[in-house]
Amino acid sequence: MARYLYSLSAGIFRRVRELPFNPESTTRCLSFTADKSKEPRATENILPHIVEYDGPLMTTAVPGPKSRELLKSLDDVTKNVETVQYFVDFEQSLGNYIVDADGNRLLDAFMHISSIPIGYNHPAVLDVVKNPANLSVFANRPALGFKPSKEYPAQLTNALVSVAPRGLKNVQTMMCGACSVEHALKQTYMWYRAKERGGPPTQEDLETCLLNKQPGNPKYSVLSFDGSFHGRTVACLSLSHSKIAHRIDIPTLDWPIAPFPRLQYPLDQFEQENRAEEDRCLAEVYSQIERQKKKGEPVVSIIVEAIQAEGGDNHATPYFFKQLQNISKEIGASFVLDEVQTGCLATGTFWAHEAWNLPEPPDFVCFSKKMLTAGYYFKEEFRPVGANRVFNTWMGDPPKVLLLEAVINQIRKDNLQDVVKMSGQYLLRGLEELQARYPHILSRARGVGTFCAVDCTDTDTTLKIVAAMRNGGVQIGNSGARSLRFRPALIFQPKHVAILLENLEATLEAL
Ligand SMILES: Cc1ncc(COP(=O)(O)O)c(C=O)c1O
Repeated sequence: MARYLYSLSAGIFRRVRELPFNPESTTRCLSFTADKSKEPRATENILPHIVEYDGPLMTTAVPGPKSRELLKSLDDVTKNVETVQYFVDFEQSLGNYIVDADGNRLLDAFMHISSIPIGYNHPAVLDVVKNPANLSVFANRPALGFKPSKEYPAQLTNALVSVAPRGLKNVQTMMCGACSVEHALKQTYMWYRAKERGGPPTQEDLETCLLNKQPGNPKYSVLSFDGSFHGRTVACLSLSHSKIAHRIDIPTLDWPIAPFPRLQYPLDQFEQENRAEEDRCLAEVYSQIERQKKKGEPVVSIIVEAIQAEGGDNHATPYFFKQLQNISKEIGASFVLDEVQTGCLATGTFWAHEAWNLPEPPDFVCFSKKMLTAGYYFKEEFRPVGANRVFNTWMGDPPKVLLLEAVINQIRKDNLQDVVKMSGQYLLRGLEELQARYPHILSRARGVGTFCAVDCTDTDTTLKIVAAMRNGGVQIGNSGARSLRFRPALIFQPKHVAILLENLEATLEAL
């Protein structure tokens, strides 16, 4: 029987939207806890200064009539609207809540593919935009490689350098995630070729490099993993193996692909099985490297995501990453860690790899999304030698660096690390409990911080759940073939987790 889904976030029950509802399940959703004595009540506002709505409010199905109308107008112009879900009223969106063009208000646990760090219209972010001292930064976009502003070195230091991964103090900003990965790899090729040659380019190098010929354009390869995603430029696509739609019809580079571990969860209950699985994949990494060497196309870089995200939230253990780092050192290749989706505290540490205790930092750490500006940190030895070798018109976006500084300050001020850890614990436990109650639908609940996911029976069911949750007022995402993925902002609190879990449970009940 259709009942109502209620929002509990203001400590009062408020009718939000008609949905099949199991009253017992609501109380169960509120009992997710690691340690009952320390647990804040799910209704408690642990960031009281964050002004936001007290719950979802749905007035139409999504997309509503206004969004559908806007879709037609956009299609008239771009002819590329098939992925557009609905249009956003950014002025009305607040905190963890996104408001659409039809006035529907949804709890956003996806945040524009994990890219809005501290919620919509955060006052600290708005203050940067409103500050007259920043006017010239917003008004004048420089060619950073030629003429950065006199304030730029300090801006980089205050923002990016202040959160640099341990041992990596050099940073290069870029335009997007793909562009960052692409340029980190370019620095690798230059470094590798300089080592190989033992000096500056030869005359033959110079003469062949504009003709797509060796030795000026060496035959190197980069090793990536099955299921990975690193972006959509041609080199990045050659390293991305998560979705046919990304790659079909595009000529890519024939580079080696190793299997990525398919682990069993929870990780601590399957240590032996998971170690065997990781060793199987590492053995294949070795074989691929040997094969490339014989082909005369050596592996000069190994690239891996800290958690495979687009490919379906696949985790590996610190052991696996340490071994990859060892292998890359052994063969004289670079070790590139893609933290585009995991960086900026999403996993409960500022960088996911901080939790692994690597003996030394990765050679490159790529970032974007929640960091607002894209780019990569790198070790000194990879510094490009010579002018104009890592360059494009904008090479970054200074206003985004200013916004990032405000975000970092807010993370520190509000101790958002604790919030992410606490909410992540609630979320994962909730998913585990729901998976125990709906084993015919959910499996493999997993996560670090709020970077969580759970698998569904098949793609159809996954998409159905995402759509039903959206119509019920909660926006989540999907990844891989059949995972529900959760990518909330860093201000997502246990009270928001409770709303999400209620909504998920009501959706599962109604399937
Ligand atoms: C791990 C990872 N790397 C790279 C990218 C590419 O980033 P962008 O879309 O900004 O090019 C993404 C995007 O989702 C990503 O998740």
